[in-house]
Amino acid sequence: MIKEVRTIGNATIYLGDSLEIMRGMPDKSINMIFTDPPYGHNNNNGDLIHNREKALGKSKGKEAEARPIANDGAEANEIFKNALPEFNRLLDSGCCCCCCGGGGGPDPQFARWSLWMDEVFNFKQMVVWDKGKIGMGWHYRRSYETVLVADKKGSKPKWFATAKNIENIIRPGDYGIKKIIPKKTDHPTPKPIELPTHFIGLHSQPGDVVFDPFMGAGSTGVAAIKSGRKFVGIEIDPHWFEVACKRLEAA
Ligand SMILES: C[S@@+](CC[C@H](N)C(=O)[O-])C[C@H]1O[C@@H](n2cnc3c(N)ncnc32)[C@H](O)[C@@H]1O
Repeated sequence: MIKEVRTIGNATIYLGDSLEIMRGMPDKSINMIFTDPPYGHNNNNGDLIHNREKALGKSKGKEAEARPIANDGAEANEIFKNALPEFNRLLDSGCCCCCCGGGGGPDPQFARWSLWMDEVFNFKQMVVWDKGKIGMGWHYRRSYETVLVADKKGSKPKWFATAKNIENIIRPGDYGIKKIIPKKTDHPTPKPIELPTHFIGLHSQPGDVVFDPFMGAGSTGVAAIKSGRKFVGIEIDPHWFEVACKRLEAA
């Protein structure tokens, strides 16, 4: 059910469950998906970051409370798997789906999702984003994330890069992409605008429609609008929906 829809310039954003809302959207109405769904790792909700903050006394009282992301438990996998056929139906011929994934650790979420994407699409590449800072963990501390890239089957993949040397590793500072350490009031897992901007430039043209069905605080939307694309986004959490609206108005 659509709980709310807002049009802000070239952006149309929905408050509600993305699977339900996608089912009401027309076939082939999207030119590119860039999305960052919950990985199912319970981020900031009893995970390493949250426990470390509490243990070191870095956050106290209300600040030490968990900041869970909707559907970030085991259900995240089922939600992503069920969304894939809808992504395929919505994407126009030759178009591409870029999906953020985790960076290793005990749950090989990025591997599982890559295989599922390859069943529906032609899997193209797992791009490694080296965040340039040592992250959480003990053995093999987590310093990278992934972006899983797949093309629609049965049509020539579109590729709009002007440079010839686009690699499958994004090194620290490439394309101006820098890891964000969120404040307590920020979305717990924000992506830097420059990350979706990079992929939007490779896989879409000005005027195309970019879609993010798990938009959080709207980083993909801001990147799309600033790159001269149209944007369609969906967010289930009313708070992050409002934050995304404000950011899109500013963009
Ligand atoms: C990893 S976050 C995205 C963060 C975003 N990339 C940003 O930079 O702000 C995933 C988002 O998906 C939302 N979400 C979870 N389940 C959803 C669903 N079924 N439909 C729409 N949004 C959902 C969560 O509330 C969360 O804000």
